[in-house]
Amino acid sequence: MKIVVIGGTGLIGSKLVKKLREHGHEAVAASPNTGVNSVTGEGLANALKGASVVVDVTNSPSWEDAAVLKFFETSTRNLLAYEAAAGVGHHVALSVVGTERLLDSGFFRAKLAQENLIKASSIPYTIVRATQFFEFVKSIGDLSTDGNKVRMPSALIQPMAADDVASAVARIATSSPVKGTVEIGGPEKFHLDELIRLDLAARKDPREVITDPQGRYYGIKVTERALVPDDNAQLGETHFKDWLNQSTKQAAKPALQSA
Ligand SMILES: NC(=O)c1ccc[n+]([C@@H]2O[C@H](COP(=O)([O-])OP(=O)(O)OC[C@H]3O[C@@H](n4cnc5c(N)ncnc54)[C@H](OP(=O)(O)O)[C@@H]3O)[C@@H](O)[C@H]2O)c1
Repeated sequence: MKIVVIGGTGLIGSKLVKKLREHGHEAVAASPNTGVNSVTGEGLANALKGASVVVDVTNSPSWEDAAVLKFFETSTRNLLAYEAAAGVGHHVALSVVGTERLLDSGFFRAKLAQENLIKASSIPYTIVRATQFFEFVKSIGDLSTDGNKVRMPSALIQPMAADDVASAVARIATSSPVKGTVEIGGPEKFHLDELIRLDLAARKDPREVITDPQGRYYGIKVTERALVPDDNAQLGETHFKDWLNQSTKQAAKPALQSA
């Protein structure tokens, strides 16, 4: 099956392309780096020729409110129009669990706009809503840092490994369209403050995490369960502490080698 991965050079996209190829599919990594731009339309018609499935795992280069909305609206409109012309039978898009509960953020308003365009289109689709990637946890702490203090609420979060996200998206992309939304998440729930403390400690980062009910996730206030998926979410297998162990060991390697 020919599967075009828009954003196929990104964190999830590159893992997804590799997994699809391992399963014998013709997976095309499409992004500006490979001459395909979903915002301008450059290279799209050619990339989509003969494709059965298109997976959208793009992200906007800018997260500023107006720019991110323009990116997801323009890109999604283009993709759906080019897919209709090419006879693509399944549009898969990666979104975020709890998007409608996070609309104080321009980023999530843009993701909701993306989902709504997909739902209104004639292309059979599956929207995959994932929880936060383990790889993104460090940025969550960085975004709430003031000096050497990180102010975090204790709301729940159920993060997952990017590798498990890619496996789930690969499974969904090679199945029939759900014509709806599927949620995926990690195997365990944490409190946000506790998660950031674990992450900083493993990285020997001296910043102190202050538990603060007024603290922000990604610049916005979140309720206790805003970030967690429903009970019927498909769960990844990788545990945060194992991943953290592995990734901090890998990060330490070049330093040891050059010592
Ligand atoms: N971070 C999280 O915790 C999280 C959680 C749930 C869902 N998500 C969603 O997952 C998706 C993928 O995230 P990611 O971290 O894998 O993204 P990423 O690593 O930032 O990769 C973004 C990809 O988008 C491509 N791209 C940018 N502009 C493009 C354009 N005009 N046309 C085509 N491709 C373009 C980039 O291509 P180049 O390499 O050529 O620039 C790159 O391949 C996002 O939509 C995000 O909302 C994220």
